Amino acid sequence: MQIIRSIKKMQAAARQIAGKGQTIGLVPTMGFLHEGHLSLIRRAKKEADVVIVTIFVNPAQFAPTEDLAKYPRDEKGDIRKIEGAGGDIVFIPKAIDVYPEDFQTYVAVEKLTQTLEGASRPTHFRGVTTVVAKLFNITRPDVAVFGMKDYQQAVVLGQMTRDLGYPVKYIIAPTVREKDGLAMSSRNKYFTAAQRIEARCLYYALLTAKEMVESGVVAAGKIEREMRSAVKASSPSAQIDYIAFTDFATLRTIKRVAKGTICSLAVRVHGVRLIDNMKL
Ligand code: PAJ
Repeated sequence: MQIIRSIKKMQAAARQIAGKGQTIGLVPTMGFLHEGHLSLIRRAKKEADVVIVTIFVNPAQFAPTEDLAKYPRDEKGDIRKIEGAGGDIVFIPKAIDVYPEDFQTYVAVEKLTQTLEGASRPTHFRGVTTVVAKLFNITRPDVAVFGMKDYQQAVVLGQMTRDLGYPVKYIIAPTVREKDGLAMSSRNKYFTAAQRIEARCLYYALLTAKEMVESGVVAAGKIEREMRSAVKASSPSAQIDYIAFTDFATLRTIKRVAKGTICSLAVRVHGVRLIDNMKL
């Protein structure tokens, strides 16, 4: 496995791969990898000849109030895991190379970024789309894989890929969960054992929604009320940021739930903000 830190070298390597007639699969990450990330690498490996995994804690997607410096890092462990999952190249660019001092060009998806996560994080998605556009430009992938765990991000980046005409097969892979249903996330490590049990509240709420829909309930308001009770029952101090029922691709709010409606939620559990979603 190759480790590349320079943008120029990454561009040259990508050209060389394409020149040999091989296809490139890209999996962008911010590192501190878990099984969720590794599932994306394995998926990319099925889709392309050469898999490039990027590790870059992207300053542009953190607000000044969010602590970029505190984002967990484990480069050595990540490299080992990527190799184990079948990655071929790890690209670890430097922030100063991705965003030189006079950087001033951003890529922004306008409408889809106004709601849900975008509502409380106004510059977040602009940072995500800008860095992923840059990574697409540098690595020229044939296939790119993102996780459904970050539902809105997956939809926003799909929109960007279409709008800018990238010749990329865009794949959204399923959320990988812990045994008890908690969606894997680098943030889960912040919990004590007791708090970690309470973190199940998001999954329980989503299961409640799924069961209600399966038994014929369609009113989103009614489902949301039951979900709120489910969250409180498993974590009395949890604070719900939002519970939303949306059309998968447009993120438009849905009042009468139908097959395929996405239910997503953000909940603060003991100070840690978690997100999760499920197709109903
Ligand atoms: P990061 O949070 O490191 O996630 C990298 C990729 O892993 C994303 O596509 C995310 O949706 C996916 N992922 C995270 N947890 C997952 C899980 N439990 N199951 C399946 N996939 C999961 O998302 C980002 O980084 C950044 O915003 C990035 C796209 C790299 C741009 O900076």
